[in-house]
Amino acid sequence: PVVALVLAGGTGSRLYPASRADRPKQFLSLLGDDSLLSRTVERAREFADDVVVSTRPSFADEVPDHAPDAEVVVEPAAKDTGPALVYATHRIRELVGDCVVVVLPSDHRVDGDFADVMRRGARVASETDSLVTFGVEPTRPDTGYGYIEPGASRGDYAPVAAFHEKPDAETAREYVDAGHYWNAGIFAWTPDALLRAARDSPLSELVTRLGAGVDAAEAFADVPEVSIDYGVMEGTREAVVVPAAFEWDDLGSWDAFERVVGRDEDGTVDVGDVTVRTVDAVDNVVAGDGKHVSLVGVSDLAVVTWDDRVLVVPKERAQDVRTLVNELKRRG
Ligand code: GDD
Ligand code: MG
Repeated sequence: PVVALVLAGGTGSRLYPASRADRPKQFLSLLGDDSLLSRTVERAREFADDVVVSTRPSFADEVPDHAPDAEVVVEPAAKDTGPALVYATHRIRELVGDCVVVVLPSDHRVDGDFADVMRRGARVASETDSLVTFGVEPTRPDTGYGYIEPGASRGDYAPVAAFHEKPDAETAREYVDAGHYWNAGIFAWTPDALLRAARDSPLSELVTRLGAGVDAAEAFADVPEVSIDYGVMEGTREAVVVPAAFEWDDLGSWDAFERVVGRDEDGTVDVGDVTVRTVDAVDNVVAGDGKHVSLVGVSDLAVVTWDDRVLVVPKERAQDVRTLVNELKRRG
C-alpha cells in the first residue's frame, strides 16, 4: 500500500502574525475556506490508501479538526522534520508493515497532474528501494529551498548527484544556471530505505533505539534538532529524483502569495479576510483577519494584521520575518 504522511508540526514563523506558536499556518485558511492542512489531506486521498498526519505534541488536539479520518502520529518532542520523519516512518512500519510512504508538507499549493506524479514516485520508491525526491524546475534563485543536482536520467527518474539545502543567494544563482532542480520537499520511500539511510546520519542513535523497542520519549532524549534535508538528504547516496511536472509553490513567506493569488482591481494581493483601499499604491500583499486596510503611495510591501498585531515588511525581505520572530521570542 501507499501511505501518505502529511507533515503538520511546524510553526510557520515567516507567516507571522497570522501564524503564531499556538496557531501555525497549516491550521489557517489562507487560500479559500479550507485550512492548508485539510487541503493537503484531501490531495493525499487522491493517490494514497491511508493518510497519516505527523505533528508535535502541542498541536495534537487540533489536527483531527482538519483531518477527521486520518491517523495522527505525535512525536514525543518537536525536534524538526528529521526526528519527526524517522519516528513516523518507524510507527507506520509497525502499523502497516511493508509499504511506500509519501511525505507531504502542509504548506504547498499544487495544481496539475499531482496525483499521477505521486503514483510514479511511489512506484520508483518501491522498485529502487531508494529515497525518492521530486524536482521542480526553478524560476528564480530562491534561498528558501533545497537544490538537487541530477545525474544521468534513467527514464522516470535520475540518481541524485548532490543535494544542497538552502544555499546563499550567490550559490543559488549558480545552481539555477547549472540546471539543478528545487527540492519540492515531498519524498517517497519504503520504511526500510529511510531507516537505513538514517542509520548513516546524525539520527542513527534514534533509529537504533526505536528498533530496540525503547520507549519513544526515552528514544527522543537528546536527539539532535535537525531537518530531514540537512540531517539525511545531504548526506545520503541513496537518493533519486523524479521530475515534478505539476504547478507547485511553497507558501512559506508573505511574498509567495502574489504568485498564487491574483491581484484585485487596484493591483493589490488580498489574503484572508481583508478590505483594501488604495491611493497610488500597487503591488502590495495585504493579509488580515477581517480588517480594513488603507495604503497611500507605497508599493512592494507586505502588510499583515491579525489579532492585535501588525507587520509591515518589504516583500523582498519577507524571509527575514523568521529573524523577527526569533527576536520576539527572545524579548517576550
Ligand atoms: N511533525 C513535524 N514536526 N512537522 C514539522 C516539524 C516538526 O518538528 N517542523 C516542520 N514541520 C512540517 C511543517 O509544518 C511543514 O509542513 C513541513 O514540515 C516542512 O517544513 P518547512 O519549515 O515548511 O520547510 P521548508 O519549506 O523551510 O523547507 C523544506 O521544504 C522546501 C520546499 O517546500 C525543505 O525540504 C526544502 O529542501 C524544500 O525546498
Ligand atoms: Mg515550507
